[in-house]
Amino acid sequence: MLLTLASSRRVLFFGGKGGVGKTTVAAATALAQADAGGRVLLVSTDPAHNLGHLWGRTIGPQAQRVAPGLDAVEIDPDATVEAHLAQVGDALRRLMPEHLSGEVDKHLALSRDAPGMHEAALLERIAETVERGLRDYDLLVFDTAPSGHTARLMALPEMMSAWTEGLLQRQQRAERFGDLVRNLGSDEGIGGRALGGERADTPADRDQRIRELLHRRRHRFAHLRETIVDATTTAFVIVLAAERLPVLETIELHAQLQRAGVAVGGLLVNKRSPADAGTFLAARRRQEAAHLETLRMALPGLAMEQLPLQPDDVLGAAALRGIARQLLPAETS
Ligand SMILES: Nc1ncnc2c1ncn2[C@@H]1O[C@H](COP(=O)(O)OP(=O)(O)OP(=O)(O)O)[C@@H](O)[C@H]1O
Ligand SMILES: [Mg+2]
Repeated sequence: MLLTLASSRRVLFFGGKGGVGKTTVAAATALAQADAGGRVLLVSTDPAHNLGHLWGRTIGPQAQRVAPGLDAVEIDPDATVEAHLAQVGDALRRLMPEHLSGEVDKHLALSRDAPGMHEAALLERIAETVERGLRDYDLLVFDTAPSGHTARLMALPEMMSAWTEGLLQRQQRAERFGDLVRNLGSDEGIGGRALGGERADTPADRDQRIRELLHRRRHRFAHLRETIVDATTTAFVIVLAAERLPVLETIELHAQLQRAGVAVGGLLVNKRSPADAGTFLAARRRQEAAHLETLRMALPGLAMEQLPLQPDDVLGAAALRGIARQLLPAETS
């Protein structure tokens, strides 16, 4: 199921509860597809990045080659928020009188921790990555942060699109108002200098730039939304351990994704206990099978694959290739 999805889709998301193996499985899938000749980009959207740890090197916001045909990148929402706030700060300082610059700083400090700020910044970077990545790569593999966060993110492009649309409409109204003001006085007066405009940067130029920016943004969110709801392009793989809580959380995540219109391509049950390594682990395996049976009943018809528990940590390309070879349909008994 996993390797079929990798060769038939353009975008794969891996999500699930903390510590179940999302990063490991995403990286193994990405590497297998690169080994098969695909150009693949592995993207981490988890603020607690561990792609670097897996590949034994630092991976940052610039894509870098980690294996033949495979590039990796870590999206950093903090850095994105900072860059965005710096831009807004510049614009505000130009618009406001000098003695209010303390107020600007205060406003920016509060915005940094505003609800949704990080998610919006992260989403903007994901949208950018998808837009560019689909041009340069055959497959984009997203290793996401633990469940709740990701499901909210999947529903967000639609909200952000509507929000940007609202801003555009407000901006058009403001522009009409600006025209009115400019017609009342000279451009050098109210419209020009008071708004921080220089000759080469009239309010009309600035309005135009803001409008272009908002249009680009709306287009980008709409494109992301179209991409993730198209089941022939995008699939979401839920990774889980065969335990009670991860199973319940998987059922919940599946429902959330369905509400967001995102197709779940399959379930990957990781760290299955061996049947032939003593009575303790054999009992554990029977318990796991019972949980998987619950899962199968709750989500009938969904492809389910499994990976055995490894004796060692999974680090580096050789170990990842080893795990891709051990993917098997999941047994529920
Ligand atoms: N099949 C396996 N057998 C043994 N260890 C595994 C297996 N899969 C993953 N691991 C180990 O489990 C740990 C967690 O894996 P991983 O980092 O891939 O999980 P994650 O879901 O990405 O975690 P997080 O939610 O923190 O991002 C790692 O140390 C990894 O090497
Ligand atoms: Mg991870």
